[in-house]
Amino acid sequence: MRDSGDQILRPFVEKARALWRKELSDEARWREIGKLLPMLLESEALQERARSWPAPQPGARRAQNLLFYEDPDYHFVINGLVKRPHDDTPIHDHAHTWTVYGVLSGSERVVRFRRTDDGAAPVATLEPIDDYVVAPGYIDVVPPGLLHAEYAGDERTVAVIVRSERVGGFPQNMVDAKTRRVTQAPGPEQIPYQL
Ligand SMILES: [Fe+2]
Repeated sequence: MRDSGDQILRPFVEKARALWRKELSDEARWREIGKLLPMLLESEALQERARSWPAPQPGARRAQNLLFYEDPDYHFVINGLVKRPHDDTPIHDHAHTWTVYGVLSGSERVVRFRRTDDGAAPVATLEPIDDYVVAPGYIDVVPPGLLHAEYAGDERTVAVIVRSERVGGFPQNMVDAKTRRVTQAPGPEQIPYQL
């Protein structure tokens, strides 16, 4: 009999919950969550499930995350994200939330930016501070407020994301790639999904 989704996630969830019971700074906790992420990325059962995770419908106006788990006590969530070849994101931040991001299959380029204006201007001045490829095995920790953009490679890209809380219900900063105009919009729509 194949493992249930709950059985696949449970060992990770238990170790993550233990990190919330410790006195840790957010930064230290999220570094530790990053070290736990291989438990999910290296799970053959999860990799097998991921082959059938749906990509957003063409023309979907908002990004979408599959929502696998939301912790009842500590509120962290586990998401799946499928990008079609060459899908990209606007330059955006994740507002006040922490994110740990790992790719299960495919790869994507991530560019991180620093805002060099005072942060209040309607048009941002941005300086790229990092530019790297996230492929299976690379684990990215994204602190609050960090502007970045993601560009999927030639294949379907599947990522597993752990976030400090469910997103989609509060505004995140978005920066237009060309005009650098800053707007606020809710993050990815959360689609509850039974693993
Ligand atoms: Fe992001």
